[in-house]
Amino acid sequence: MIEHRVIPNHVAIIMDGNGRWAKQRNQLRAIGHRAGLKTVRKIVTYAANQGVKALTLYAFSSENWNRPETEVSALMSLFVYALNREIKSLAKNNIRLQIIGDISKFSQQLQKLILNAVKLTQNNSGLVLNIAANYGGRWDIVESAKKIASKVLQGELSIDEITEEHFNLEITMSNLPAVDLVIRTGGEYRMSNFLLWQSAYSELYFTDTLWPDFTEKQFEKAITTFNTRERRFGAVKVEENIC
Ligand code: FPP
Repeated sequence: MIEHRVIPNHVAIIMDGNGRWAKQRNQLRAIGHRAGLKTVRKIVTYAANQGVKALTLYAFSSENWNRPETEVSALMSLFVYALNREIKSLAKNNIRLQIIGDISKFSQQLQKLILNAVKLTQNNSGLVLNIAANYGGRWDIVESAKKIASKVLQGELSIDEITEEHFNLEITMSNLPAVDLVIRTGGEYRMSNFLLWQSAYSELYFTDTLWPDFTEKQFEKAITTFNTRERRFGAVKVEENIC
């Protein structure tokens, strides 16, 4: 039995399965994404109430541009709709919105909405809702490498000073706690270019549940499973450390 339930500081979620959820109902994929947005609302509320400090959601990967144009366009409209609709509620509930990813590829309207929402909520002290939008883990690492290379070129950093700690400062989410738990819904068992650097020591939790069907109860189950994991970060258990 778990006596002291630890709430992970930072949970990241790959929200997979919207398309299949829609297909099961003979609906367009866009309907699945709309249903997925309802789950986002539920899960954000639950995470905030549980005292999770940061929740990172994979909303649009850098590879998602390769989907049919109608689907990409439906997703963009959904982001605009969600931001317009939820911004007041984020502000009211002390939630701070943060974005990781290259938003320069989005429409001017969407970029403006994102930047406004980030600004409006920047002083909130509750949950950080971190949305990965046009994000790729490899992109993230390459961007950090570029920033570091530029510092070397400017003479601000020597090659010997390039360390993991330094990368940790340049990579996205350096202002947030380490990712404790990555949840993936939809029955696939891979990272799909999500937080490649930041998840090095995260616990991984996979469920077959499609994202629109994911509930607070299932989130709770993921946290309970997280509590049964023994996190060693590459070391050994204290009682084994005797020879
Ligand atoms: C993956 O399911 C889901 C996405 C690519 C989009 C996720 C977007 C939302 C849940 C809505 C908006 C979110 C925010 C934060 C505003 P899939 O389409 O790959 O499903 P499939 O594997 O069944 O085809």
